Parts: sequence; C-alpha cells; structure tokens
Amino acid sequence: NQYTADINAFITTQADELEAFRIKYLGTKGLIKDLFEDFKTVSPEEKRVFGKVLNEFKQLAEAKYNELKESLGTETGSTKSEADLTLPGEGFELGSRHPLSLIRNEIIDIFKRLGFVVAEGPEIEDDWHNFSALNFPEEHPARDMQDTFFIKKNSGKDDIALRTHTSSVQVRMMEAGKPPFRAIMPGRVYRNEAISARAHCFFHQVEGLYIDENVSFSDLKQTLYHFVQELYGDGTQVRFRPSYFPFTEPSAEMDISCTICKGAGCNMCKHTGWVEILGCGMVDPNVLENCGIDSKKFTGFAFGMGIERIANLKYVIRDLRLFSENDVRFLNQFQTEI
Ligand code: PHE
Repeated sequence: NQYTADINAFITTQADELEAFRIKYLGTKGLIKDLFEDFKTVSPEEKRVFGKVLNEFKQLAEAKYNELKESLGTETGSTKSEADLTLPGEGFELGSRHPLSLIRNEIIDIFKRLGFVVAEGPEIEDDWHNFSALNFPEEHPARDMQDTFFIKKNSGKDDIALRTHTSSVQVRMMEAGKPPFRAIMPGRVYRNEAISARAHCFFHQVEGLYIDENVSFSDLKQTLYHFVQELYGDGTQVRFRPSYFPFTEPSAEMDISCTICKGAGCNMCKHTGWVEILGCGMVDPNVLENCGIDSKKFTGFAFGMGIERIANLKYVIRDLRLFSENDVRFLNQFQTEI
C-alpha cells in the first residue's frame, strides 16, 4: 500500500527522474521483480490473493511509467511527433525546364521542320577550328572582335582556347563530310567580358549552316524570315543591315520589329522599333576551300544567334545574370508541360 501511494504521488518533468523510477520499480533488479521472486515461496492459498495484488501493482507502475513518459515526450516534442501519422506529408517540388533550354528546343524544332540536323562539337577548341579555317588571318584585328579565353597561347596556330562561337562546329562538319550540309549547332561559348546585366563571360548560341549547289542570299533571307514568323508570331517584320564577319561575304545583321512594344518604342529596342537578333551571310569561298569544299561548285549561307538574346526578347528579361544564378524564384516562372 505504501508503494502504491508512492507510485500514485510520483510526478516528474525530468527524463532522468523517470528513468530512476523505472529502475526502482520495473527494472530487472527492481522492486516488482523482487516481489515476484518472493511470490514463488508463498503457499498456494496466499498465491491467489497475492497474485492479484501483485499484478495490479505491476500494472499500476507500468501505466504510470507510460503516462509520464508520454507527457515528457510531448513536452520535448521528440518521440511523439515522429510517429504522428496524421501530420500532412511533405510535398514534392516539381522542377521546370531552364528558359534557355526552352528557347533552344524551340529553335531546334523550327529548323528541324526545315530539314536541318543538330551538330555538336567540343567547347575547348584549337586555333584552326575557331579562327584560322574561318578566315581570321593571324594577327588580324578581326580576332579582337571576340575576346578570347586562351588555354594555351604562343605561336597562333598551336593556340588552344575556349570556343568563342559555335562556327567551329561548322568547320568540323565540313571537314568531316561532303556537301550538301544543312545543320544547326547549339552550344555554350565563352568570351572574356566583364559580367554585367548586358554581358557575361559565357553565353549560348545556335548557329546554322546550309551548303549546296545554287544556294543564294534569297534562300538565306527566306529561311530566317520563316524562322522569325515561327518563333515570334506571324507579322513580325525583319530587316537586314550590311555587316562584317571574316567568314561570310556578303555579311549582314538581321533585326526584327520589336516584339515587346510592337514598334511603338520601348527600352528594349531603345525606342527605334527594331532589335538585332542575329548575324548571317554567304559562306566565304576561302572558308569552303579551307574545309576541302569546291567553292566553284558549292555555295552556302551561315547564321548565328545568341539564345540569351532571343530569350530576353521573348520573356522580357533585362538582366543576363539571371540565366546563370539558378534562383528558383526566377526558374519557377517557366513551368511548361514537358
Ligand atoms: N559566329 C558569329 C558570332 O559568334 C555569328 C555568325 C555566324 C555570323 C554565322 C555570321 C554567320 O558572332
């Protein structure tokens, strides 16, 4: 009876006190174990009475122990919450495609429908594929047009660099095969520029190449005109301005009517109504000959665009750095079905 009163009066908020309680009453050398040992020695008549009392006492001690353990558990928030099956589950975050991948895939789809295949090449290039084969003469200032990250630089023709454009893939393709060629080259390119809202030390390009007999400048214009209608919608205007690239002659830059203000004049088009989206031209005969193609028989056009720029104009993104910071608040906005 004394023990029963003790148990009923026992209150604790401490785990170690509760453990002392368990050892005292319920432990392998505890009081209840002792009483059960004594129980073996009593007479059969006494056993009936004692047995009942003893079992009740044991149940009381166990019940008290469990009750106190539970209240301690909830207070510290440990054991109980782990097993709470009624808590809501943790939701799965669904990823989304990167905006640059979305645009790249869209560009690839449009050109695929025109019969262009996708070609790829290395990001670390030698001087020949990035410059010399493309008609950049050694020490020619045209090489300064593209601020290059050199990996190895000494004589010029042994130089190794991070490719500054995917035109290098065009060279590899022409060297490896026979015309006709109709391909686009998506990929990452590098230029040694200070990082700002408007420039980055790397960006992404899609270049294109079409070589066959009798390919003319009007084929170039119509192909790019069609591309722009598909990407930005019917009625988007284009205009060509004369330009210069060592690997094309004649060369041009293509503008489209501003897709953001619809020509009314906004910051994106600097109030001109036109935005530049790509460079293009007829492949220079020197380039064809450098790659082992008969320039008397074959002609072709090439073009190149920056994916970031295309994405800026499609999604009205004003800071290039957003594309490489991987901030989910930015990336989350490009949920698509695929
Ligand atoms: N390679 C050029 C660049 O990176 C783009 C271009 C490609 C221009 C093909 C004309 C023809 O700026």
